[in-house]
Amino acid sequence: MSQTPLMVLTNIHKSYKTDVVLRDVDLKIETGEFVVLMGPSGSGKSTLLNILGGLDKPSAGVVLVDGADITKLSDRKLSEFRNQTIGFVFQFFYLQPFLSVAENIALPLIPAKVPKKTRVKMAEEVAEKVGLKEKLRSLPKQLSGGEIQRVAIARAITNRPKIIIADEPTGNLDHANSLNVIKLFRQICKQSGSTLIVATHDEEIANVADRTLKLKDGRLI
Ligand SMILES: Nc1ncnc2c1ncn2[C@@H]1O[C@H](COP(=O)(O)OP(=O)(O)OP(=O)(O)O)[C@@H](O)[C@H]1O
Ligand SMILES: [Mg+2]
Repeated sequence: MSQTPLMVLTNIHKSYKTDVVLRDVDLKIETGEFVVLMGPSGSGKSTLLNILGGLDKPSAGVVLVDGADITKLSDRKLSEFRNQTIGFVFQFFYLQPFLSVAENIALPLIPAKVPKKTRVKMAEEVAEKVGLKEKLRSLPKQLSGGEIQRVAIARAITNRPKIIIADEPTGNLDHANSLNVIKLFRQICKQSGSTLIVATHDEEIANVADRTLKLKDGRLI
């Protein structure tokens, strides 16, 4: 197929004062791909994911998503782009402690101006997909670690984003559970045709990906 890749990064550099965090990063990601990003702590994984998702701007380089350079967008346009296109699971994600599972899952639909009734219905649908239908009314403190992780995943997919970016989404799960969560995540993305980009330290997660990228000292190797 000769379609244009969904994302094209060209010559990305990122530095903080004199610290170079990413250098010469060139990367293409196709629609529907499941890409895993690996590398030692501090190698730049979160930084690269944040740049891919428009949460951070590179010091130099171009980030094309659907052919448009997102580094050139104003803050307002960039936030619109994120709301419409990207679902995030953050490395240090947190659920709103005083909101129920259903309300946490429906949160990304509020800036998208989805009416309340539809929000509830959509939250129920995704909760079912991740096996949390029985927990919709629970508060986060009443959930296990694996269930919390599944709420975070559900929240990332509620808006049916084209691109899902997950930074160590199973970081605090045991091995068997983290593989299950990732397989579930992958299955949901394959069904919806979403592109999934996951940073992880877990080799087995890399084994179920379409492609694994390795970062070392800010370079793709
Ligand atoms: N806001 C910042 N200011 C200065 N340095 C930063 C900032 N954010 C990140 N860095 C530095 O950039 C480097 C890469 O950080 P990053 O968080 O991308 O690593 P990582 O590969 O995600 O690591 P981990 O596996 O521990 O999550 C680190 O050396 C970090 O100290
Ligand atoms: Mg990180």
